[in-house]
Amino acid sequence: MKILVTGGAGFIGSNFVYYMINKYPDYKIVCLDALTYAGNLETLENAMKNDNFSFVKGDITDRALVFDLFEKEAFDIVVNFAAESHVDRSIDNPEIFLKTNILGTQVLMDASLKFGVKRYHQVSTDEVYGDLPLDKPELMFTEETPIHTSSPYSASKASADLLVQAYVRTFGLPATISRCSNNYGPYHFPEKLIPLMIANALNDKSLPVYGEGLNVRDWLYVEDHCEAIDLIIHNGRVGEVYNIGGHNEKTNIYIVKTILEILGKPESLITYVSDRKGHDMRYAIDPTKITGELGWTPKTMFDDGIRKTVDWYLNNRSWWENIISGEYQDYYNKMYGDR
Ligand code: NAD
Ligand code: TYD
Repeated sequence: MKILVTGGAGFIGSNFVYYMINKYPDYKIVCLDALTYAGNLETLENAMKNDNFSFVKGDITDRALVFDLFEKEAFDIVVNFAAESHVDRSIDNPEIFLKTNILGTQVLMDASLKFGVKRYHQVSTDEVYGDLPLDKPELMFTEETPIHTSSPYSASKASADLLVQAYVRTFGLPATISRCSNNYGPYHFPEKLIPLMIANALNDKSLPVYGEGLNVRDWLYVEDHCEAIDLIIHNGRVGEVYNIGGHNEKTNIYIVKTILEILGKPESLITYVSDRKGHDMRYAIDPTKITGELGWTPKTMFDDGIRKTVDWYLNNRSWWENIISGEYQDYYNKMYGDR
C-alpha cells in the first residue's frame, strides 16, 4: 500500500505520518509539503530514518509537480492535510486560504482521478458548520447540520468539501471527508491556543485570552484523530462525511487556567484582549456515525492528554523555541502588539 500524506510536516499530518509508520511498517508513505511557515522538517526527522518514508517539498497547487509525483508513485490512497489552518491569519489575509485550501484540493483530486487513486480522503473541520449557542448545550453538529461558515478559513474548508462532494457525484472520485473538532498534542504550532499558552506561560509572558474566554471548543487528542482517519480510509464508505470528536467541550478560560495550574504559574499572567472578529461561540461534535459504523471512540481523556501535551512542550523546548525566535516573532507582534 502506498499513501500520499500532504501537509505531513504540519501538526496533524506529522502525527498521522508517525501513527501510520508505527501501525503499518510495510506501507510506503510519501509526504508532500510546501514547508510554509507552519511546516517543519525537524518534525519529520525521525520519520526520515525509515526506508518506507520519503519527503517531497512541493505545493499542492502546483499541477505539474503534483501530476508528475502521482505518475511516478502510483498512490493507492491520498490523505489531504495540506492547508492554511489558522483562523486569525485568514482574517488578516484570506487569499492564500482560497488558493491552497480550495484550488489545492482540486489539483489533488484531478490527479487522483487521472492516476486511479483508490481512495482520496479530505481532512476537513467542524468549523464548516459554523457555531452553536452557549445556552443550548443539547445541540451538536451532526453530518446533516447545514454548512454555515464564519471565517475565511472555514469558508475555504467548506468550499473544498463541496468540491469533493461534486467530484464524487460527477466524476465518481472514490472520496471520503472527515470533519474533526479542535486537536491538541505534540508538534502543534505555537500560534494556536494550547501551545501558545504553554509557551507564553513557560516564558512568563502574558496569556492573551480573546473576549471573555467563554468560547467553547471540543478538544480531541491528535492521536485519536489519526486513528479515526485510519479507520475511514480503510473501512469508511465512499461519498460519506464522518464527524470526529469526543464530547470534550471546554471554555477557553478553563483551558488556560488548567495549563497555568499544571505549570504552577500564576493566573495573573492572563490578559483579556479584544475579541476575534466573527468569533465562533461553541463547537460540539456528535460522533454517533463514526462510532456506530467504524467503532471509533477517543482513547485519551482530556486530563491525561493535556498533561501529556504540556510534558511534550517541556521536553521539546528547542522545537518550539526555534519557531518563536524566528519570523514568528513578527507575526506575534502584528497580531498581539496593540491588541
Ligand atoms: P498546520 O498548519 O499545522 O499544517 C499545515 C501543513 O500544510 C504545513 O506543514 C504546511 O507547510 C502545509 N502546507 C500549507 N500549504 C501548502 C501547500 N500549498 N502545499 C503543500 N503543503 C502545504 O495544520 P494542522 O493543524 O496540522 O491541520 C491539518 C489539516 O487538518 C488542515 O486541513 C486543517 O484544516 C484540518 N483540521 C485541523 C484541526 C486542528 O485543530 N488543528 C481540526 C480539524 C481539522
Ligand atoms: P485556535 O487555537 O486558533 O483554534 P480555532 O479558532 O480554530 O478554534 O483558537 C481556539 C480558541 O482560543 C478560539 O476560541 C480563539 C481562542 N484564542 C484565544 O483566546 N487567544 C489566542 O491567543 C488564540 C490563538 C486563540
